[in-house]
Amino acid sequence: MNLTTSAQRALKRNLTLEDALPTRMPVYVDSVAYLFGATALMSFLLLVVTGVLLALGGPFWYHTNSVGRFLDDAHFWSVQVFFAGLIAHLATKFFLGAWRGGRWATWMVGALLFASGIFTGLTGYLLQTNWDSQWIATQAKDAMNAAGIGAIFNTMDVGQVLMLHAVVMPLVVGAGIGVHLFLIRRDSPVRPYED
Ligand code: HEM
Repeated sequence: MNLTTSAQRALKRNLTLEDALPTRMPVYVDSVAYLFGATALMSFLLLVVTGVLLALGGPFWYHTNSVGRFLDDAHFWSVQVFFAGLIAHLATKFFLGAWRGGRWATWMVGALLFASGIFTGLTGYLLQTNWDSQWIATQAKDAMNAAGIGAIFNTMDVGQVLMLHAVVMPLVVGAGIGVHLFLIRRDSPVRPYED
């Protein structure tokens, strides 16, 4: 037994080809309630694309030319769509009781994604490289100290904030989304409540 064979076995045990790339869906999935997860997913992809383009020029360039301002705005509005989609997704999944039938792990990974998304948002607001972000950094520093994590996360350290926002958190959220989608495909959509 090596890592490849155990990965192959785990995948075969948990995911059929029809699970991974479904061609048919239960009829109750034909509803707007199932669009919000996809909204969050698509706006996350847009965040990554606009974020990578912003990163190409470093942390200041986008304030001083029209291409940069356009990308900065596209990144900002993707955040709004992401959180609007996420709240609608969370609420619909709550009222559908979508954690039933052993789907608690999907729910819990979702909850961790929500928390990681909020933390990523905070590091984004700290990275605006303007007076606003300096104000937020000095205020948030006190909150981090009060929470006892001021020594490992310093909101006034632009280098740390930049790495967290542009490298660490996108990888964490991206990996979490991967696990979330794997669990959803493995378990298939939850059945509606019986009347
Ligand atoms: C980055 C954030 C998230 C993304 C990209 C995402 C994406 C998705 C997608 C595409 C689906 C399948 C379509 C659907 O049922 O809507 C789904 C299902 C699900 N999501 Fe999320 N989600 C996120 C966060 C959350 C949060 C915050 C929760 C709850 C705390 C959650 C709970 C669930 C559950 C329980 C299901 C399974 C639904 C079922 O079995 O019918 N998700 N998610």
